Amino acid sequence: MQPEQVVTELPVTGWTGPFDPMSTRAAVAALEAGRVVMLPQLAFEVTEAERAVLSAGLLSGKRKNISLEPATGKIGGAADVPEPLAAFMGRFAAQAEILARGLLAPYSRPLRLGRTSFRPAEIAGRDYSPRKDDKRLHVDAFPTRPTHGDRILRLFSNVAPDGRAREWRVGEPFGDLASRYLKTLPAPAATRARLYAMLGLTKGVQSGYDQMMLALHDQMKLDETYQTTAPALPWSFPAGTTWMVFTDQVPHAALAGHFALEQTFYLPVSAMVSPETAPLRVLERLTGRVLA
Ligand code: SIN
Ligand code: FE
Repeated sequence: MQPEQVVTELPVTGWTGPFDPMSTRAAVAALEAGRVVMLPQLAFEVTEAERAVLSAGLLSGKRKNISLEPATGKIGGAADVPEPLAAFMGRFAAQAEILARGLLAPYSRPLRLGRTSFRPAEIAGRDYSPRKDDKRLHVDAFPTRPTHGDRILRLFSNVAPDGRAREWRVGEPFGDLASRYLKTLPAPAATRARLYAMLGLTKGVQSGYDQMMLALHDQMKLDETYQTTAPALPWSFPAGTTWMVFTDQVPHAALAGHFALEQTFYLPVSAMVSPETAPLRVLERLTGRVLA
């Protein structure tokens, strides 16, 4: 795989714009084509007071990140939440939202804000079960939050105080991935989906799409052959850079790095410029079924 198949770099220098129509078009086209949009000149500024509290020691137990639900201000994953940390994450969420709604102009209204996370812990050398290990190539699918085909768009910023890069691998087009695993993906199981929702295991009822995406996530992570032989390109995100990607579409693995911020967004397929590139539409074409 070549770098231009995987990443598009844009010279964006500010979180609040104005953004020129050329950048907007390039960003949306790249994202929907399954590329990472990298903004090498866009850093998220960390204040002195914030630096002092941003230590990995904030993490409770084995949690790998601290999350903020912007709608409620609720924070999870930290032993206790010092005020500068809450402010830091809130400010990032606000700036990420302005950037996404501004730069990705066609998504401006339909985009929904999801969770914010702060990921201070070093990734390299940490051990997880294969299913939980994001050092393995995967596409994102949330076990407890069905999306019914809505896109998962994530914006990351590397704020490592020591300048350490975040090291990823970025994988093949979604159509290739889905075709590989198609025969092994489960048929929609509506009864199980209703049961899970009734038991409170999921927020709402999983669609056939959600069930397939969860299976795809697990199968690729558990597949040693895929992990070692699938097409993927290593990519470094230096400290002081920001990037965006549809993580439900693009196989990705985070191998090393620490101190990243991440904002999740959801986008209805109908809001896309090229909705036929959505994983939902790709899986529907391949299976010949309506999946959400
Ligand atoms: C992931 O989404 O799999 C992890 C990405 C990261 O934390 O860099
Ligand atoms: Fe992921």
